[in-house]
Amino acid sequence: MSSLFDKRLVFVTGKGGVGKSTVCAALAMRLASQGKQVLVCMCNAKERMSVMLGSGPIGSNITPARPNLFAVNIDPDSALDEFARSVLKSRTIARTIDSKYVRGFLRAVPGMPEWTMLGKAWWHTTEKLNDLNYKYDTVIFDAPATGHGLDMLRVPQVIADVAPPGLLRRFADDALSLLRDPVRTAVVLVTLPEEMPTQETIELSQALTNELRLPIGRVIVNCVLPPLFSKEERVVLEASTHIAATDATHSAVVSARARAIRERVQGESLLRLGRELTVQPSYLPLLFDEAAEPKAIEALSQRLM
Ligand SMILES: Nc1ncnc2c1ncn2[C@@H]1O[C@H](COP(=O)(O)OP(=O)(O)OP(=O)(O)O)[C@@H](O)[C@H]1O
Ligand SMILES: [Mg+2]
Repeated sequence: MSSLFDKRLVFVTGKGGVGKSTVCAALAMRLASQGKQVLVCMCNAKERMSVMLGSGPIGSNITPARPNLFAVNIDPDSALDEFARSVLKSRTIARTIDSKYVRGFLRAVPGMPEWTMLGKAWWHTTEKLNDLNYKYDTVIFDAPATGHGLDMLRVPQVIADVAPPGLLRRFADDALSLLRDPVRTAVVLVTLPEEMPTQETIELSQALTNELRLPIGRVIVNCVLPPLFSKEERVVLEASTHIAATDATHSAVVSARARAIRERVQGESLLRLGRELTVQPSYLPLLFDEAAEPKAIEALSQRLM
């Protein structure tokens, strides 16, 4: 399994609500605790990262969140401005983008808002300090849920294919070569041990590998339960649909049955992921206490190798 600890860019994606932001926060804490300078980039998110990191609100300007850990919630409009002003460093382009007409036009280009957000994250991987060391050792990108995440990853290739030679194309080429480099980049797929997320993860993994040729660094199955029941016990419990509601054991049997079903589905999902993915998944446990607090994120971060 490849390490996530020496990457310049970690792109975290997966189905909605599977724990992408939780994984980003946990990974960021782990790296920061090892002395790395880390920047977490969110994509115009309803911001809950500050709760997870125990910091003040995180807006569209880079904010220190914890020692060695910075965060930003990228807003596509300001990213577009920044893209023109500080990335392209071209006054002509900046002036052009300042014109409302061109700005509207750029916004209407499919994928442009996505590209400005990913492009900004990529730009931060290139930033250097006066001593020529990188400003951030690792940029963690909390990408949008699967469909949008894939669209976003397709954009640099489209720009590289269609843009005329020039700065825009050069930046897209550079971003693409970073994204495709397994030494510097890891795409992390987060999923749950359930049927639909498993199916989606397998399809996402195929699209990333075959179509986009991007390196999957890690698949993380989040919210894994420790099994309580053996296979035989599960069979008995799943068959126990005949307990009368008046029976004293009714509610205990109902919840044991629900747990047994969940464990079976989890087992099947883990087996399928292990069989059909090229990267062996690693697991994060389901936490029973509040999972969005720094203490919980720290506990999860210890489980990330
Ligand atoms: N291992 C875990 N155990 C228990 N709860 C968890 C765990 N991981 C995440 N959660 C909870 O699940 C919910 C969704 O997590 P999170 O916000 O990280 O998902 P997401 O994939 O970023 O969602 P979105 O697609 O909306 O951005 C949150 O309430 C979070 O606290
Ligand atoms: Mg999220």
